[in-house]
Amino acid sequence: MCGIVGITADGEIVGSITRMLVDGLKRLEYRGYDSAGFALIECGTARILVFKDKGRISHVVEKYGIEAYCSHTGIAHTRWATHGEPSQRNAHPHIDCRSEIAVVHNGIIKNFAELRELLASKGHMFRSDTDTEVIAHLFEEYVSKGLDGLEALRKIVQVLEGAYAIAIINAREPLRIYFARRVSPLIIGLGEGFNMVSSDIPSILPYTRRVIVLEDGEYGFIEPYKVYIEKDGKPINWRTRVIRVEWSIEDAEKGGYPHYMLKEIMEQPRVLYETYTGLLSSKELAEAAKLIASARKVFITGAGTSYHAGLVFAYYIARYAKRVATPFIASEYTVYSDVADEDSVLIAVSQSGETIDTLQALRAFKSKGAKIIAVSNVLGSTIPRESHTTIYTRAGPEIGVAATKTFLTQVLALTSLALTLATEEGTITTTEYKKAIEELALAGRAAARSIDASLRILDKLVLVLKNKGNMYILSRGIGVPLAYEAALKVKEVSYIHAEAYPAGESKHGPIALVERDFPVIFLGVPPEDVLLEKLQGNVMEMKARGAHTIVIGTTPYGKLEGVDVFIDVGSYDELLIPYAIIPPAQLLAYKLAVALNRDPDKPRNLAKTVTVE
Ligand code: AGP
Repeated sequence: MCGIVGITADGEIVGSITRMLVDGLKRLEYRGYDSAGFALIECGTARILVFKDKGRISHVVEKYGIEAYCSHTGIAHTRWATHGEPSQRNAHPHIDCRSEIAVVHNGIIKNFAELRELLASKGHMFRSDTDTEVIAHLFEEYVSKGLDGLEALRKIVQVLEGAYAIAIINAREPLRIYFARRVSPLIIGLGEGFNMVSSDIPSILPYTRRVIVLEDGEYGFIEPYKVYIEKDGKPINWRTRVIRVEWSIEDAEKGGYPHYMLKEIMEQPRVLYETYTGLLSSKELAEAAKLIASARKVFITGAGTSYHAGLVFAYYIARYAKRVATPFIASEYTVYSDVADEDSVLIAVSQSGETIDTLQALRAFKSKGAKIIAVSNVLGSTIPRESHTTIYTRAGPEIGVAATKTFLTQVLALTSLALTLATEEGTITTTEYKKAIEELALAGRAAARSIDASLRILDKLVLVLKNKGNMYILSRGIGVPLAYEAALKVKEVSYIHAEAYPAGESKHGPIALVERDFPVIFLGVPPEDVLLEKLQGNVMEMKARGAHTIVIGTTPYGKLEGVDVFIDVGSYDELLIPYAIIPPAQLLAYKLAVALNRDPDKPRNLAKTVTVE
């Protein structure tokens, strides 16, 4: 897992590209990091200079004084280890025996062991434990046999198995960068007098908005005034595929907040409204509803937060459309794809559109004839491109590793789908549908109000919770998937162990952990006439054992007894409750992280998008 950036420029127009390369790479650091590296073709000498080390990008840049070097062509990379432990020798770029070729790579080369053995038998000396290094030696092997760079690349994409996004520079072609893509995302940025290749859009935003999203199996090269793309040996007409990225630069910057995560929590009212307006004119929503209405079996999948959005959908589709959707965690797809057929529909939820687990589940279902509906936040990403239809959220780039705004926009899209389906199924009238959709227009306002209502109380609550090692987050009804999501947020950014359960489950085991001052957070959700009394019982059970009881809930829950802290998010019905309950939980996780001196944007061990198994 990594971020890749490559830039090649006309030196007269752009001058040295080293600063652009450093800047572009820094915008990808959120994708995952434990090492970073640069390979530059030096002005004048055409030597390849390689600078790499374990640690953050700024450490590598300062250690080698990289920005002092002149180069018109270079590649750079941040790494999240998959093969070979994080170290300088395993950091990318990797080079060939003669230091004339350098490569950066995202993904996993599945057959790297046999390729390495074959190349070593031909005398190639390997310097690292990585799968990536075989690419540099393969390129060297082919060009040393007289193939030109493009012919060598064609050979490489034929022999490599697995997932990859590759950028290669060759000292003998100082103004060219070769690239190839299979499974792992890769885009081309089209500049004036320069071109870029990158794994992510934010890295190119300050320099260009014109982007080509590469498809699986595509490869080629960029030069300052030329882009060449090929697939299976045939040239691709890429000019029809240039998209203009509307994200403003500040969208990809912090916008004055201390962390991306806080910025993105606070953006939720706006992006919920933008997603809502996008859904109103979305023909894909109706298309997706028709696919589900005509399906016998409905499944929904995703990883992490996206899976929790799937759980919310499963609740709403049962509540409003009287249909059953089977939710499953993407990496556990096989038992479900085995029962899929042409009468099945799979909804694949993925904000990045690149999560390998979700992609593999999608492909397994598709191979059984199932129809695929994607819910994604990134235009042109792999999962939407492999689906029959896609409902896009409009959350804008989410830089923080923890999913926040993308979760609630997924919930909004999926709720709209459940309601649209309900009209298809005739379980709600058109009038009821219109009323519900109008209500969803208030999702952003519900989020804004609950953020305001909770900020004051959360600061005090954090002083107590930050010293705890564990907590439970319990709820009932629609609050259960929201509790799972809240617990994931707390875990992944503050490193405190938070566990979510249906509140009714407490006495079937979990309550054994509860002792004096053990924090238990209850999410109080509608319908209060059904759930409030039951939750009162759960609160008392916990209080009797000395728990520190906290309720984040609608106004009626303010009358619960045995509650130490109550955060009143206002009064909402089931349709709007996610937008009121989740922001306070996100803010709690964020504030705990900051209070514990964690980096909420780049939690340890995590990457924004998991594109390797
Ligand atoms: C959530 O905060 C995590 N970042 C992670 O669980 C994430 O939701 C998961 O990796 C799925 O990502 P996707 O939505 O891009 O597929």
